[in-house]
Amino acid sequence: MNVRNATVADLMEMQNCNLHNLPENYQMKYYLFHALTWTQVSFVAEDHKGRIVGYILAKMDEEGAPHGHVTSISVLRNYRRLGLANKLMQRSQHAMKTCFAAKHVSLHVRKTNRAALALYKDTLGFEVVEVEKKYYADGEDAYSMRLLM
Ligand code: ACO
Repeated sequence: MNVRNATVADLMEMQNCNLHNLPENYQMKYYLFHALTWTQVSFVAEDHKGRIVGYILAKMDEEGAPHGHVTSISVLRNYRRLGLANKLMQRSQHAMKTCFAAKHVSLHVRKTNRAALALYKDTLGFEVVEVEKKYYADGEDAYSMRLLM
């Protein structure tokens, strides 16, 4: 499995992967905005035939200290628990730091998302900053999380 920088040509497959995996979906123009503005920080995982099986869509935020933000990450069901999300996160975090001098990386995650919470907290060392009540469209709360870099 190969992890590489996402390109504009990957966006349709990334969107497809997102639609399969998450209820938080975005219009193509939002993907395009990420890819054109912060090209360095989004990545894809591909199988041996070059099909995209996972992605991380990330951006930079200049409010306060420069920091990265993970808009969305997911891995197709058959390719989970192979370390792909961990690798996608690490590659993106490295690019945020080296290309944009990010001081930390932030993200939101559903309170009930056990797999993602384990990835962020236990594997990567993120901490919960606050609970954002009814952050998601269906009313679920989010943990706002942060990792200092
Ligand atoms: N249960 C418990 N812990 C888990 C699980 C799980 N199902 N999945 C991953 N982890 C933890 C483990 O600690 C794991 O390490 P280990 O395998 O050595 O025990 C660690 O995370 C790393 O796992 P990866 O193999 O790198 O994770 P994977 O590639 O399977 O992807 C992800 C994890 C992205 C959460 C995947 O389950 C997924 O796509 N879920 C649906 C979409 C989703 O919830 N995305 C995150 C939304 S929040 C956001 O986008 C900012």
